Amino acid sequence: MMKLWGGRFTEGTDERAFAFNASLSYDRRLAAEDIRGSMAHAAMMKKQGILPAEDCDAIISGLASIAKDLAEGTLKIDMSQEDIHSFIESTLTERIGEPGRKLHTGRSRNDQVALDMRMYVRGEMSEVDAELRDLQKVLLDIMEANLETWMPGFTHLQKAQPVTLAHHIGAYFEMFTRDRGRIADALVRMNECPLGASALAGTTYPLDREYVAELLEFDRATGNSMDSVSDRDYCIESLSALAMIMMHLSRFCEEIILWNSDEYRFIEISDGFSTGSSIMPQKKNPDIAELVRGKTGRVYGDLMSMLVTMKGIPLAYNKDMQEDKERVFDALDTVHDCVTLFTAMMAEVRFRPERMERSAASGFTNATDVADYLVRAGVPFRDAHGIVGALVLTCIDRGISLDELPLEEYRKLSPAFNEDIYEAISLKTCVERRVTKGAPSPESMREAIARYRAMLAEEDAP
Ligand code: ARG
Repeated sequence: MMKLWGGRFTEGTDERAFAFNASLSYDRRLAAEDIRGSMAHAAMMKKQGILPAEDCDAIISGLASIAKDLAEGTLKIDMSQEDIHSFIESTLTERIGEPGRKLHTGRSRNDQVALDMRMYVRGEMSEVDAELRDLQKVLLDIMEANLETWMPGFTHLQKAQPVTLAHHIGAYFEMFTRDRGRIADALVRMNECPLGASALAGTTYPLDREYVAELLEFDRATGNSMDSVSDRDYCIESLSALAMIMMHLSRFCEEIILWNSDEYRFIEISDGFSTGSSIMPQKKNPDIAELVRGKTGRVYGDLMSMLVTMKGIPLAYNKDMQEDKERVFDALDTVHDCVTLFTAMMAEVRFRPERMERSAASGFTNATDVADYLVRAGVPFRDAHGIVGALVLTCIDRGISLDELPLEEYRKLSPAFNEDIYEAISLKTCVERRVTKGAPSPESMREAIARYRAMLAEEDAP
């Protein structure tokens, strides 16, 4: 097999060293980006008169035939090559002869791999964004259908105050909006083209770097050639955004698992997204949600691994940086799977409003509203808090809820209570009164949903 760098060597590479050094088994997934980048490089060399036009044309059509054959599966990747760059270049030379040997003019694998990886991460992160958007659409439909599905809101996993299912799901909608914002921010910074930095110090050929950047849909060429070949912070930024997405999904999964349990029974995950037990015939387990929660650790690991790999590398390129690929690929694959599976599972979840409402009606979720009732009658909030605490104790003693406590018991503690207390503390009133921006009332949530729908529609606009 022909090496790209054999000239200076008198002896062959140790077989074990070659295998250890090779990246083709995983960087083969950069084939399309590598070919696209090389085509742009050749087109630029033609425009600049660096190579004869007919050589550049031969290179471009040779690369196009390789891309086509790879896509159709008629060209197999030769695993004796070191990496995808070597494989494509040697295949090109096999096909078109001499001009193929000129492609690497003014270029190094250092700027080549920096380019390929940027294009790949850019494409994949946009894909993750689209997947999150699909998830948001599913969440919006659930919200719209559940504006008046009362349920307990929790703090410390203890029932706190009543909310609605729409409101609870809406919290996740906001989280995924910020996740998408992080992707958009990272995309802005990464969208600079490193090609032309060559090994580290640019080249003596009259490259037109901005032209290449434009051909490859970058905003501009990078500003410093040493930075261009040694910067992987766009990978770390992307991994960080991916880790955050997983953190949000994992919390959501934890709730789905709790809600699906026999203790809560707020929801039922469909058969298609549940699994059984090999020994206990009654079981229907939320494995998908558990796996998403579990895989979160792996994406965190990818982020940590990359941060540590990069921390001590002197400028410019060092082979340590080849380690970026498996970590970034793993995180991207994991997040793609988790977001799409989670979305499909949520689209089929059956909600049980009656169970949620019954749960909200117990556990004194309306205690704050009893206090607010007193405050409206002029009682200072601190006093009201004490009075309601005593009322709750009485209810606990008798095993009843605040709605079931007779009026005379209320009046024993404060003459400010009247018959209208029951209406004031019904679940419906408790939620409907919370009308400020972002609060759970159907009125506020309708406004939020309109905002969310408008946001998604704006993205659809041409
Ligand atoms: N496979 C290498 C990587 O992923 C490509 C760059 C090789 N450059 C070099 N100087 N050995 O980083």
